[in-house]
Amino acid sequence: MITATALSNNVGLAVEGIDLSRPLERAVEDQLRTLWLEHGLLLLRGQCRTVAEQIRFSRTFGELEIHPLERIRHKDYPELIELNSADEQTNPTASWDGEDWIGRLGWHTDLIYSGKPNLGAVLRAVILPAHDGQTGYADRGAAYDTLPDSVKEEIADLEVVYRFEVNLYRMPYLDTSGYLAGPGAPDKPSDVGFPDFPDSVYPLVIPHPVSGRKVLNICPMFLSHIRGRPEGGGDPLLQSLVDHVTDQRFSYHHSWKRDDIILWDNWRMMHCAPGIRPGDERLIHRTTII
Ligand SMILES: [Fe+2]
Repeated sequence: MITATALSNNVGLAVEGIDLSRPLERAVEDQLRTLWLEHGLLLLRGQCRTVAEQIRFSRTFGELEIHPLERIRHKDYPELIELNSADEQTNPTASWDGEDWIGRLGWHTDLIYSGKPNLGAVLRAVILPAHDGQTGYADRGAAYDTLPDSVKEEIADLEVVYRFEVNLYRMPYLDTSGYLAGPGAPDKPSDVGFPDFPDSVYPLVIPHPVSGRKVLNICPMFLSHIRGRPEGGGDPLLQSLVDHVTDQRFSYHHSWKRDDIILWDNWRMMHCAPGIRPGDERLIHRTTII
């Protein structure tokens, strides 16, 4: 029998009673899909032991993406990518508040800059660092629900523009106070083997593509401006929405243990990675649901 317990701040559920070592029954799959869409995040502690189990579990929720960057694909399972802290291109070292960190990433929604965010994703920590290495998740649905009615009215018909950048200093609503780029920090997309993307425009309040649930479509990375209003940062309305969505009452930070697996809804939740310290090591396996 499945039991589900709310994680801190009601951000997602810890689900128990699932055995991923064998195929799930249809009724269990249906139940998990419903919980995923209702709560935005499911954590299964210590339940996923192999790459094949992760892929089978992920397929319960949709088709899986074959990542365009071949070098990070698993050599036997192309629908799974390996995020390795030793890969300096995807895990640059940078200084934050005077200390070096590897692979730190601010709050973001995957692929929001492309105009086609993936529906969800699954992470499994394979090599755990000795310290740090958490993943943070924040519920942009709950952030919308708790806005004052006057703000909901003000933003109801606005559109928001996301712009692809790899240089953090050019993300006007990402807090880069205390940030000092490392020597290998990328400046343009081609520096990390990415194509460029044209701006993407979305409703500021977006109906979830499957559930229809309203989501405050704000995340600090890649956020450029409200359509028709000034670019370059400093829009008081946008800054107040960034401050709201990043308030800690909407977030849960997971400290990984061996064989933990997390599935999240990428349209609703944003996520972040505080990173690890130099000398430490971390390997994450990821599948992407499209
Ligand atoms: Fe991400």
